Amino acid sequence: MISKKSIEDVEVEGKKILMRSDFNVPLESGRVRDDTRIKAAVPTIQSLINRGARVVLASHLGRPGGEPKPELKMNPVADRLALILGRPVHKIDSVAGPEVNKKVVEMQEGEVLILENLRFEKGEEKNDPQFARLLAEPFDLFVNDAFGTAHRAHASTAGVASFLPAVAGLLMKKEIEELSRCLNDPARPLTAIIGGAKVSGKINVIRRFLDLADNLLLGGGMANTFLVADGFTLGDSFYEEEMVEEAADLLDESEESGCCLLLPVDLAVTKELKTGSSFKNLSPEEVEEGGKAVDIGPETVALFGDIIADAAMIVWNGPMGVFEVPPFDSGTAGVAAAIAGSEAYSVVGGGDLVAALEGLGLTEKINFISTGGGATLEFWEGKELPGIAVLQDK
Ligand code: 3PG
Repeated sequence: MISKKSIEDVEVEGKKILMRSDFNVPLESGRVRDDTRIKAAVPTIQSLINRGARVVLASHLGRPGGEPKPELKMNPVADRLALILGRPVHKIDSVAGPEVNKKVVEMQEGEVLILENLRFEKGEEKNDPQFARLLAEPFDLFVNDAFGTAHRAHASTAGVASFLPAVAGLLMKKEIEELSRCLNDPARPLTAIIGGAKVSGKINVIRRFLDLADNLLLGGGMANTFLVADGFTLGDSFYEEEMVEEAADLLDESEESGCCLLLPVDLAVTKELKTGSSFKNLSPEEVEEGGKAVDIGPETVALFGDIIADAAMIVWNGPMGVFEVPPFDSGTAGVAAAIAGSEAYSVVGGGDLVAALEGLGLTEKINFISTGGGATLEFWEGKELPGIAVLQDK
């Protein structure tokens, strides 16, 4: 059980606080396209302001690789945050050093400042102790609220904690509580649904839920790899050749486990993956050369739906098909609707599914949607995340 101190356990009044957030948000024409992660940071920022702290926000945006990139400056994030908070958010063009130190000293209680993109500095991703020391210099306390980046051991997520007392923000605290809920003593039956294109990034999480869950439902491109491991050829469908053996091992292991692993019983098969293209719903043995399986079919949606209806807790990571290309969003939409209509406590592990659920207008029907992608997967795998490990124990 992870038990870390949060901002609720420490005095913050008058303190100069370095708050690491994950504002790695999608941009479009220089504006924030999806502000879910910005909104998720607001409770921590608001609580710190209300308690008289001086809040300095820091995040990365994209992967500039240690070089300043004008298109990845934090300005659009600062603008959107100011709108959401309804108060000014000052922006500075540096990440650390004398200019930042001066600005921080001049800040009044309740003020909010945002630093430039952390990854404009080479020391950030290298977790360079000198850079971490410089970053920490003007502050009294480090608040890590960046759950989505907690799997990275970078200067701003881990290194800085060598120089400042470190506690969790409210989002970080909630993520830990909600994601642990499915691992420690989950309500049963626990049904895990895992999709997405590739097995390779998710093999450990699949193994974990094979141990933990009562049912494990697999969809998306990754299910193709399992179907190939099960002996089907699947025409010209995408699958990961190098993962077939491992998938076969997992299918064998599932026989011995107490978990019921289900693969799709039908697939939406098309000749051409593009919006509006025609397709047939076929069973795996019916997929012929030239056919590409790009979504789960209606029988699978119904089968998965029955299991979802009986579940007491559901965890879901990864879409059931190529949902960005309709009509191959039906499988994901069908599973989402089944979860929305179920009584089960539902937890969705970030990434692509956030956009899918938003498009479907179903986010409100899910009990918890994680802001993490890779971080959520590693947390569920049972790995210790560096950005959490450095926080003070309770
Ligand atoms: C994410 O979006 O998953 C996090 O912000 C981490 O970003 P990264 O994969 O570039 O480290």
